[in-house]
Amino acid sequence: MGTAGRENLDADHVSRYDNKEDADASDEVALLQALGVDSQSTVVDFGAGTGQFVIPAAASFRRVVAVDISPVMLRTLRAKVAAAGATNVEVEQAGFLTYDHTGAPADAVYSRYALHHLPDFWKGVALARIHRILRPGGILRLWDVVYGFQPIEAESRVEEWCAAAGSAIESGWSRAELEEHVRDENSTFTWLLEPMIERNGFTINEAIYSDDEFFAQYVIAKVRQ
Ligand SMILES: C[S@@+](CC[C@H](N)C(=O)[O-])C[C@H]1O[C@@H](n2cnc3c(N)ncnc32)[C@H](O)[C@@H]1O
Repeated sequence: MGTAGRENLDADHVSRYDNKEDADASDEVALLQALGVDSQSTVVDFGAGTGQFVIPAAASFRRVVAVDISPVMLRTLRAKVAAAGATNVEVEQAGFLTYDHTGAPADAVYSRYALHHLPDFWKGVALARIHRILRPGGILRLWDVVYGFQPIEAESRVEEWCAAAGSAIESGWSRAELEEHVRDENSTFTWLLEPMIERNGFTINEAIYSDDEFFAQYVIAKVRQ
């Protein structure tokens, strides 16, 4: 099974996180709204991290559940939820494989840069569990590091990706951090992940790939029970 990822348990990394990474959360909330997720909706964020999505989501949706396995991330997230007075946010220390959903089925599940912490077998299980908590027609917004290049290109493409990073860690990702991602985490190929999504009763309505083929953003719908 996966772990939270070394850095997500490291208080120094977590304190830097919001300077390193911006979830474009307002755009993400707007995207869900355009898909019909509204002020009556329940949204579950898996791997919610420091809560970049959760806080704006709370202002737009009825119930937001922030799920994360890292107590260090959740400390930051809880402080932000309290500061925002977001009383419709529930914070759950749990993971893709252990979160137990109660109440009305989710209208949407959001997950950004988290599913790659699970090896592929467990990604398949996690997707089945997400499918189970969504209502029919519900949306899964999935955004992650997913490799779109061919395996034969891996050495040169990974080297290119890592070489473009510097050494600074305060406001971006260093070469060492990108190397760690490829070496120790479980990002997979698009051509493995996408059939796994479809096998679990979803349809992929939109897939946007970054030019370097290291990132994928999916809009996915639950099409069958
Ligand atoms: C790179 S951070 C992304 C945080 C946030 N989603 C964002 O986009 O800024 C990855 C998060 O996934 C969490 N995570 C790792 N393994 C997980 C699992 N099995 N279940 C749920 N969350 C997990 C980590 O603790 C961490 O907070």
